[in-house]
Amino acid sequence: MTLCTVLLQILLPTLLLVSAITGADASGIGVNYGTRGTTLPAPADVARFLARDTIFDRVRLLDADPVLLRAFAGTGLAVDVTVPNGVVPHLLNLTFARRWVRDNVTPYAGATNISRLLVGDEVTTEANRTLLLALVPAMQNLHTALVAASLHGRVKVSTTHSLGVLTTTEQPSAARFRDGYDAAIVRPLLRFLRATGAPFMVNAYPFYALANDSSLDFALFRVNDGVMDQGTGLVYGNMLDAQLDAVHSAVRRMGFGDVDIAVSETGWPSAGEDWEVGVGADLARDYNSNAIRHLGSGVGTPLMPNRTFEVSIFSLFDENLKPGPVSERNFGLFRGDMTPVYDVGIFTDPETLEPVRAKVTSRKWCVPEPAADEMVLQENIDFACGQKGVDCTAIRPGGVCYEPDTVQAHAAYAMNLYFQANGQHAFDCDFGQTGIVTTADPSYGGCKFM
Ligand SMILES: *[C@@H]1O[C@H](CO)[C@@H](O)[C@H](O)[C@H]1NC(C)=O
Ligand SMILES: *[C@@H]1O[C@H](CO)[C@@H](O)[C@H](O)[C@H]1NC(C)=O
Ligand SMILES: *[C@@H]1O[C@H](CO)[C@@H](O)[C@H](O)[C@H]1NC(C)=O
Ligand SMILES: *[C@@H]1O[C@H](CO)[C@@H](O)[C@H](O)[C@H]1NC(C)=O
Ligand SMILES: *[C@@H]1O[C@H](CO)[C@@H](O)[C@H](O)[C@H]1NC(C)=O
Repeated sequence: MTLCTVLLQILLPTLLLVSAITGADASGIGVNYGTRGTTLPAPADVARFLARDTIFDRVRLLDADPVLLRAFAGTGLAVDVTVPNGVVPHLLNLTFARRWVRDNVTPYAGATNISRLLVGDEVTTEANRTLLLALVPAMQNLHTALVAASLHGRVKVSTTHSLGVLTTTEQPSAARFRDGYDAAIVRPLLRFLRATGAPFMVNAYPFYALANDSSLDFALFRVNDGVMDQGTGLVYGNMLDAQLDAVHSAVRRMGFGDVDIAVSETGWPSAGEDWEVGVGADLARDYNSNAIRHLGSGVGTPLMPNRTFEVSIFSLFDENLKPGPVSERNFGLFRGDMTPVYDVGIFTDPETLEPVRAKVTSRKWCVPEPAADEMVLQENIDFACGQKGVDCTAIRPGGVCYEPDTVQAHAAYAMNLYFQANGQHAFDCDFGQTGIVTTADPSYGGCKFM
């Protein structure tokens, strides 16, 4: 074990706990609030819960949903709004950018503390030329539109990057931006961020860099031998520091070492496939609480010492509608009914969870099993919607529950209608063992589940 890791082990628990509780830095600790789940609580309850009962002072929305923007009104939480990738090319048109701000920002900015517009998600690693070339001009046009609306003082424009935008993260000091991107995309991007005072935002996941069990200690901020950067001789005690220093090295190499770096996403799944290394509730708890403590501690990283970092945990909720391996649906701190997935003592005062839990009534709803097969769910929709007393207009195009247009979401709506119409017996929610009865209201936005 190196001196560095010994010091980290001794100093971190005390230093960091204090800073995490007092919130080291205004708007320093955020959470990503995604909504791809069938049983998530009402946005207003979520907003109240975050503002009142957690240490989070920032929230990132993964789109510009007006229901969510309104929910955070009056909470004071700094809200980062994501401009969906599909909108980015349209923003090359300044008139469109002005309208986008007029429709999606201005109406809410009075009461909701909109702090940033994040233009697209991981566009720089999307391998989509149209998007990539539109990115920086789109950001500039949004900024121009914010200036016209006199909102640019409060609302900054940035974008999020995956670590895939770097060529190497093996030696933090050797990292640089991918060839072909550096001059064409990254330089104008950094110039824009510097000019407008916005941070370079990175989604950093030590979880995805785990090679095998022996790198687990390094990733989880546990005692380990540390890893020396051959270029600088600096020893890294954890993987997140190495990832952030890699970003810093690449940014500095372009001549923009003064542009701030913020962590727009980091997290760890509590469950996963058999073949996924390092998944588990205890590990997720350790990673998330250690990452928050460490980045809020003021220790900094080897290349960026003595500073705190803004960090947003991914994610607030487990989201059962997300595609991909099991881990993708299990990054949440909380389940849909607001119960913690693991002991999140660091994030909340457990006593104050009660008022939120109390909102869960004895009413019952029927929703699909998260793992249910889509073909079977489609059959459930066809069956339920064909029954007397079941009106599926809401999930047809133009209906209030049409979005998200996924089989799971539509099945949840249809299966629940059938369940309610037939008297809420457990067997009315069986659907060949693809349905489950829940006490958490699956309603969202304007889509109300009866
Ligand atoms: C709004 O968020 C910013 C961070 O972007 C924070 O500094 C400010 O205090 C917040 N405003 C209010 C009214 O809470
Ligand atoms: C690139 O992204 C745009 C905007 O999201 C989309 O319309 C287009 O289909 C994408 N192109 C490819 C080749 O995926
Ligand atoms: C620019 O956007 C505006 C508003 O959406 C639209 O009316 C106009 O046709 C667009 N111009 C071009 C050249 O696409
Ligand atoms: C585990 O991964 C680390 C870091 O990538 C590597 O140095 C080490 O050799 C690997 N160990 C085994 C047993 O594969
Ligand atoms: C960081 O803080 C330590 C302890 O206060 C101090 O010794 C060191 O010089 C500082 N480093 C920088 C780069 O400011």
